[in-house]
Amino acid sequence: MNDILPGEVATWQELEAAARRVFRSYGFSEIRVPVVEKTDLFCRSIGETTDIVEKEMYTFTDKGGTSLTLRPEGTAPVMRAFIEHKLHAQDPVAKLYYMGPMFRYERPQKGRYRQFHQIGAEVIGLDDPRCDAQVLAMLDHYFAEVGIPDVQLQINSLGCPECRPAYRQALVAFLETRLDHLCDDCRRRWQQNPLRVLDCKVPGCKEATAGAPSVLDHLCGGCADHFAAVQGYLTDLGTVFAINPRMVRGLDYYTKTTFEMVTGNLGAQNAVAAGGRYDGLIRDLGGPPLPGIGFAMGVERLVLLKGSPQAVPRLDCFLATLGSEAARHAFLLMHQLQRAGLQVDTDLEGKSLKAQMRRAGKLGARFAVILGGDELAAGRAQLRNMDAGSQEEVPLDALRTRLQELLAGGEA
Ligand code: HAM
Repeated sequence: MNDILPGEVATWQELEAAARRVFRSYGFSEIRVPVVEKTDLFCRSIGETTDIVEKEMYTFTDKGGTSLTLRPEGTAPVMRAFIEHKLHAQDPVAKLYYMGPMFRYERPQKGRYRQFHQIGAEVIGLDDPRCDAQVLAMLDHYFAEVGIPDVQLQINSLGCPECRPAYRQALVAFLETRLDHLCDDCRRRWQQNPLRVLDCKVPGCKEATAGAPSVLDHLCGGCADHFAAVQGYLTDLGTVFAINPRMVRGLDYYTKTTFEMVTGNLGAQNAVAAGGRYDGLIRDLGGPPLPGIGFAMGVERLVLLKGSPQAVPRLDCFLATLGSEAARHAFLLMHQLQRAGLQVDTDLEGKSLKAQMRRAGKLGARFAVILGGDELAAGRAQLRNMDAGSQEEVPLDALRTRLQELLAGGEA
C-alpha cells in the first residue's frame, strides 16, 4: 500500500481531471460507493473460484457478526447501489463512473499493489454492439487525451450462457489430455473454472495450452453477430484493436465482449485497463434483467506509464519583510492576495531577509515582494521577478492588480 506524496499528486489529479472531462462528453455521471461491502456480494459476482475471491480479499467480521470485505473492484458495488436505489426506475439506461481505492491481497511488485486505485465506467441497460464500440472508443480517447503511448487494445468474446457450456466442455476435454503439464492451481481448477487455465502465467501451462480450442470457434449465432458488429463499429470509429482469443479475464461475470488495454512497459503486469460486458450480473444480484458493460483502469499503472515528474506547484508570490511593522502589514496583504485567488506565502519565523529570499526560491515563487519599514512608510514595495531577476517599485495599493497582470502573462 503506497503513500502518494505531494510531488506525485499533480499527475494523479491530471489523470482524474481528464477522466471527468472525457467521460462527461459521453454522458457519464459520477457515483461514489463505500469501500466495504458484504462479502457475499463479491463471492456472487466475481465468482467463488477466481483468484480474487479464493485468495485476495481483505475480509473481516464486524462487531455485529457480519462478514465484510474491502472492495477488490468497483463493478459489483456499483451494481449493488444501482439495484438498491432502484435507479432503473428513473432511467433504465445509466452511464456511471467512479474512482477510488480497491484492495487485493496480492504479491506486490511493480504495478501490482495491495491498495491500488481504479478509474472505472459502466453502462447499464444497453446491449447494442454500438454501446460496446462506444465504451471502447471512450477508453481509447482517454488514453490519447492523457498521452500514454505504446498501448494496444485487445478484444475477445466470451460468449453467453447459451454457447459457453459447449466451449467449456471442449476446453475441459482438451485440458484433460494436458493435465500432467499443468501447475497445481490449474490441475485443481481445470474442471471448475477451465477458462482460467488459459490465463495462467506459469510458462509450463502456457506451453501446454498453446493448441487449446478457441472460444471464437464456439460462439452461438447471436454472440458471433454481436462480436462482428462491435468490430465493424470500431473500424468505423477509427479505434484500432487486435483480437486476442485467449483473453479470459479474472472475473466470472463477463459475457460476450471482453477487452484489455495492454502494454509491454510494465514488467509482468501488462493490463493498464480492462473490462467487458456482463449481461447476467444485475439479474444474478437480484436486480432487473438489464445488460451492462464497463471497464476499469489501474491508476498506479497509468502513472507509471505517464511518468511522474516531481513537480511541486509553483508559488505566485512570496512576501519578504524587514522589521516587525512590515511583517505585520505583509501578513494582512498575504490574506488579501489569497482571497483574490493567488498562491502566496510569507515568513512566519522571523528569518533574515536573505533566508526569506532563499525560501522564496525554494518554493518556486514567480515573484517576491520586498517590504521594509521605509517602503511601508512611503506606501510602496519592491516587486521582484524571480525568473528574470528584474525589479520594479509598485505602490502598495496597486500591488494586487500589478501582480495579477504579470501573472496573467502581461509584460514582465
Ligand atoms: P480487473 O482486470 O480486475 O477488472 O482490474 C482492472 C484494472 O485494475 C487492471 O487492468 C489493472 O490496471 C488494475 N489493477 C488490478 N489489480 C491491481 C493491483 N493489484 N495493483 C494495481 N493495479 C491493479 C476489474 O476490476 C473490473 N471491475 C473491470 C470492469 C469494469 N469490468 C466491467 N466493468
